[in-house]
Amino acid sequence: MVSIIVSGGQWGDEGKAKITDLLSEYADYIVRYQGGANAGHTVSIDNNVYKFHLIPSGILFPNKLCIIGPGTVIEPKILLKELREFTGVVPDIHNVYISGLAHVTMPWHVYIDQASDTVGSTGKGIGPTYTDKAKRTGIKIIDLLDPDILRAKLSVIIPKQNETLQKLHESTTQFELDSVLDEYLDYGEQLRPFVRDTVTELYNANRQRKNILYEGAQGTLLDITFGTYPYVTSSTPISGGACIGAGVGPTTIGHALGVFKSFITRVGHGPFPSELDCDGDLAAQLRQDHTQWAEYGTTTGRMRRVGWFDAVLARYAVKINTYTSIALTKLDTLDQFEKIYICTKYKHKETGEQIHEIPYVDGDYLSMYEPVLTEVDGWQSSTFGVTSWDALPQNAQNYVRLLENMLETPVSIISTGPNRTDSIIRKDVFSC
Ligand code: IMP
Repeated sequence: MVSIIVSGGQWGDEGKAKITDLLSEYADYIVRYQGGANAGHTVSIDNNVYKFHLIPSGILFPNKLCIIGPGTVIEPKILLKELREFTGVVPDIHNVYISGLAHVTMPWHVYIDQASDTVGSTGKGIGPTYTDKAKRTGIKIIDLLDPDILRAKLSVIIPKQNETLQKLHESTTQFELDSVLDEYLDYGEQLRPFVRDTVTELYNANRQRKNILYEGAQGTLLDITFGTYPYVTSSTPISGGACIGAGVGPTTIGHALGVFKSFITRVGHGPFPSELDCDGDLAAQLRQDHTQWAEYGTTTGRMRRVGWFDAVLARYAVKINTYTSIALTKLDTLDQFEKIYICTKYKHKETGEQIHEIPYVDGDYLSMYEPVLTEVDGWQSSTFGVTSWDALPQNAQNYVRLLENMLETPVSIISTGPNRTDSIIRKDVFSC
């Protein structure tokens, strides 16, 4: 039995969904531990494309319990829509278990997020939901199951939220207790069959030595504490966040798998040292413009900013997450480049001082540096769909080995295409 945490090592969109889907086959439980409908996970199987926001993609397999954990925030309308969409498509939709402790994204959270955003948020109300959780004025999923508790909470919360909205939002959007109460009690009734004590479920699963896969959303550099603050999300995507967000102890975890794309992308505002000019040919090539797999956000449709692999930030991510191994995705995206670049050092914009390691990945601090790039030879042949290490061109093997050396961490999985089968498994992560 091994419990594995899969988390993103960059600014999200590393291809975690493909990796969790690949590993879900060997897991008994798949657990989402933070974030909300700001995430978008795309999985391709036999050329069918499935898009998830809240439900773990493990639901595509039979007999896997998929938990939306206590550390997540849930927008009931989005979750109910997703549950409806996948009913009859997946083997058993009732294998989705929702923690009663998860906080609820209420409609005012979305308004406030959209009216006051300064970081390029997804506009899904994530920041305001976590803010209210920390202010002790949030609503939990279990509250939606109890009319008295929900009425008591809403009667205090709604007047305050209306006041905030009046100040923030120039429109006259206001909420009325009885209609919000009726609407959210109805959502509660629809969600009731899925709501569980997921903490006891996972405790028992651990005692029975089940395989558990913890799935992070977003990525290390968007972590509220360790990311490029303030240009971050409001939760804890790093591997350490899995225990807090799922409600399990650290002694139960066996492997932390970090997912890194072979280059790097970000959406939203904030510093990005190895960023390429978004209008240039290189960016368009890395972004795979005009293909089905172009780098545009699953949740917002926004064009992603792209850049070369940043080994300084990746080393930082390895440190913060203490990754056991790495899954390297989208290797095939680099197939056509004659020369590939890796950001191996940073140079201070004023003093010229060069550094290999960055102590603070804070937004302002990171803005003081520019990238120092190292050039490596490309392989200029197709690796698309390659399934064995030996079949990779020599220069592609060299690229992977170079990253392993720089990150002092083995690459256990390489993804060479969008489909589940387009993968090179170098190490069985569930048995190590
Ligand atoms: P929020 O999570 O919607 O509050 O957005 C905060 C920051 O995180 C913004 O820069 C978003 O673009 C970014 N972000 C949130 N979710 C994702 C994701 O799933 N992938 C990539 N970036 C994300």
